[in-house]
Amino acid sequence: MPDKPLLEQIRKVSPLISVGVLTADLMSLGSELKLMDTAGVKLLHVDVMDGCFCPMMTVGPAFIKALKTPLLKDIHLMIEDPLDKLESYVAAGADMITVHVESCRHIHRVLQKLREFTNTNDPDRGILRGIALNPGTPLEVITPLIDELEMFFLLAVNPGWGGQKFIPSTQQRLSRLRQMISDAKKDILVGVDGGITRDNIADVARMDVDIIVTGSAVFDGKAPLDNARFMMDAVSDAAKKA
Ligand code: DX5
Ligand code: ZN
Repeated sequence: MPDKPLLEQIRKVSPLISVGVLTADLMSLGSELKLMDTAGVKLLHVDVMDGCFCPMMTVGPAFIKALKTPLLKDIHLMIEDPLDKLESYVAAGADMITVHVESCRHIHRVLQKLREFTNTNDPDRGILRGIALNPGTPLEVITPLIDELEMFFLLAVNPGWGGQKFIPSTQQRLSRLRQMISDAKKDILVGVDGGITRDNIADVARMDVDIIVTGSAVFDGKAPLDNARFMMDAVSDAAKKA
């Protein structure tokens, strides 16, 4: 049995999209989530914002717990000082928890603590630990953390809102990140988050990314099922051509 079954499971089907629920129609969230399952989406990205780490406030553990879905819960914590709050997100059913290196003084301790938790949905599943970097944070910060995680996310927008523009320097950061991970001979999933739409998803998928977070391009209030299918096809086409 691999020691990180969830990492193996995602690695087998990557590259894949993780759909951001921030712009979903909350008045019909159940049917919107069912549409994602119908489309074959595997990851649901929940942006947790506390209004301190970034300007917006969004949702917390109670919302995450209330999400009844077979999709894996990919929780993006944009909150100050996550250390003592981790347990409530684990209890809410997080499968993947990503914290910001900029959000606390002891980020290494946060990753150590995350390693101790058991997945509430399935004790054998494990919880994937991720670090996210804002666009202005140098990649070098990840070097001392590389033994303590399974995912790195680069934000392609400044955190706080869906629907922003993809920051072009992200592409060069992604290739440098890839190089750092291969130099360290580590098996770490690389993700990119923010500003990914129908217009650029094929280009982004060709940037050797494992997880592509896309929110408002899917939950646009018009055709989430078609949008999800479009984004998934674009990612699998790019993977075939790679
Ligand atoms: C930004 C969030 C992103 C964002 C993605 O702070 O971390 O996940 O909501 O939304 P789109 O795909 O609309 O940029
Ligand atoms: Zn996010």
